[in-house]
Amino acid sequence: MIKLFEPLALRGVTLKNRIVVSPMCQYSAQDGFANDWHLVHLGSRAVGGAGLIIQEATAVSPEGRISPEDLGIWKDEHLPMLRRINEFITAQGSVPGIQLAHAGRKASTYALWRGEGTVPESEGGWPVVGPSDVPFAPNYPQPQALDAQGIQKVIADFRAAAQRCLAAGYRVIELHGAHGYLLHQFLSPLSNQRTDEYGGSFENRVRLLLEVVAATREVWPEELPLIVRISATDWTEGGWNADDAVQLAALLKTRGVDLIDCSTGGNVPKAPIPVGPGYQVPFAERIKQEAGIRTGAVGLITNPAEAEAILANGQADLVLLAREFLREPYFPLFAAHELGVEVPWPPQYERAKPRVHAVAGQR
Ligand SMILES: Cc1cc2nc3c(=O)[nH]c(=O)nc-3n(C[C@H](O)[C@H](O)[C@H](O)COP(=O)(O)O)c2cc1C
Repeated sequence: MIKLFEPLALRGVTLKNRIVVSPMCQYSAQDGFANDWHLVHLGSRAVGGAGLIIQEATAVSPEGRISPEDLGIWKDEHLPMLRRINEFITAQGSVPGIQLAHAGRKASTYALWRGEGTVPESEGGWPVVGPSDVPFAPNYPQPQALDAQGIQKVIADFRAAAQRCLAAGYRVIELHGAHGYLLHQFLSPLSNQRTDEYGGSFENRVRLLLEVVAATREVWPEELPLIVRISATDWTEGGWNADDAVQLAALLKTRGVDLIDCSTGGNVPKAPIPVGPGYQVPFAERIKQEAGIRTGAVGLITNPAEAEAILANGQADLVLLAREFLREPYFPLFAAHELGVEVPWPPQYERAKPRVHAVAGQR
């Protein structure tokens, strides 16, 4: 039995396989609005057979965008195009998910291919916030530490965004608690130097994430799954580490979170990360075993055999692929062929399914 193509039920949502499109910023939106690029980008991967497609980091407020070109879901006007994309994904038998995000001190920065560091207000940038007034790096914006009211606004923005997700037809929400963005900034003692109830002890540093989870769960229906992506380590002495991640995952399990998407890093520039095939899988494995919660493995998973082995060895429940899906939007159809599993192809493409060429082109 091939695990990669075993369906997975999360609450009332069943994924047809365990292959997930990892969220990937496209830096192609204007004022947060999705457009044809997003439809084709996400739609192709639905045609390609992914079980779950998690839309890129989508900002819960304009100031929470990483770059001026990020997707957003802070106003109802964003919904019609998102709904259209989700209807297309659903019609292909894939499940539409979204990553809700706030970039915190890493907001107002250039899209990858446009530049590096702070976008000035003269070029569409904005003042940024964080747990403390410590910038990510010298060329990054100087954040203003959130006050109590500012923290309540962040929580309310996530709640309102989750409500809009429902209206837009998403069936899975992933909260972005990784990669050095706002929720991770609160988790890590390297970025969180607060002295109030949101800083200091582990209990205080995880408070904002738990409150965002609670606010999301208030409006996100019982039958729909909630995922949290975390960075399981800062890869830096004195920072957030794997023991903290296990403890947090166990807490999240009791708060209505169904799966932990286990990434790492992003909160410390130039942290020494031992990048290699499947390098983050051990974190997914440890969190699954020690916190007793389902996990997703991500990071340099690039071929069907590797992906299958992660699941077969019980290291994770889902595999998320990012860059391989940019190379090969039909990765699941290819993986099924490689692993000898019969899966339906879109009828429009069925003539290409048998890999024989005897009568190609005849009709
Ligand atoms: C183009 C691109 C955009 C990304 N954007 C996001 C994002 O929006 N949210 C996120 O959590 N990770 C993002 N990532 C990280 C991926 O989701 C993934 O964790 C990482 O690329 C490792 O997986 P891979 O080796 O399969 O690419 C992005 C990666 C790429 C390549």
